[in-house]
Amino acid sequence: MIKMEDVYKKLGQQQVLAGISLTIAEGEIVVVMGPSGTGKTVLLKHLNGLLHPDRGRVFIDGVDISRLNDEDLLEVRKRMGYLFQEGALYDFMDVFDNVAFPLREHTDWSEEKIADRVHEVLEMVDLHEVDRKLPSELSGGMKKRVGLARAIVLGAKILLCDEPTTGLDSIHSRDISKLIRAVARKIKATTVITSHDIANSFRIADRLVLINDGHISAMGTKEDMDSNPDPFVREFMHA
Ligand SMILES: Nc1ncnc2c1ncn2[C@@H]1O[C@H](COP(=O)(O)OP(=O)(O)OP(=O)(O)O)[C@@H](O)[C@H]1O
Ligand SMILES: [Mg+2]
Repeated sequence: MIKMEDVYKKLGQQQVLAGISLTIAEGEIVVVMGPSGTGKTVLLKHLNGLLHPDRGRVFIDGVDISRLNDEDLLEVRKRMGYLFQEGALYDFMDVFDNVAFPLREHTDWSEEKIADRVHEVLEMVDLHEVDRKLPSELSGGMKKRVGLARAIVLGAKILLCDEPTTGLDSIHSRDISKLIRAVARKIKATTVITSHDIANSFRIADRLVLINDGHISAMGTKEDMDSNPDPFVREFMHA
């Protein structure tokens, strides 16, 4: 379970988060939406301890992660997969080595066991016979799949995906959205995705959260969002 309790964060002159409270149940898939620059990435980075709140707390499975030392935070992070907005694959490593990287860093597995696991997760994201390809040889959609495979390779119980459809055309955006949902369900991960892609957010989410000006403007199912009378919510949803 993930819980944000009245989280505030100022970056530079901007109060990016101004009292965010949000609870995400075990296995739930939540999409955080909002206009560009509104703090979606900043919110996500609070969930894996890349950023710490100025005020308020973030709990992962009941543990306040801002109170953990580096070593304990690393243990929590190993249970979290993070799919970065820019993909963040290592350009100089082929697909196999990119996906194997977390296993080589954090386990003492044999190369054989590593290879089995790498192929298992590549299979899950529907990639075949791409081991020796470099990121530069992959399409945008394939790069996201490799990023997703790497995010789950350690057995993530929490999956964080930052703008998984950015830079993709509508068909690939839909495909990656469906894939993330299928994978999240399969591994039973509690999942938080940021997006400003409304159609695909509806495809992925059990529940949606709309943030603006550091606050949660609305939260609920697609139907809740569609029937929300707030002018900002209406404008965002029907843009
Ligand atoms: N390290 C930082 N120092 C100063 N300001 C920052 C820093 N990181 C983010 N910001 C500011 O915080 C605000 C929120 O940024 P964030 O990246 O979370 O937006 P976003 O909602 O993810 O936008 P996008 O949809 O474009 O990805 C922006 O105004 C950004 O300039
Ligand atoms: Mg962002």
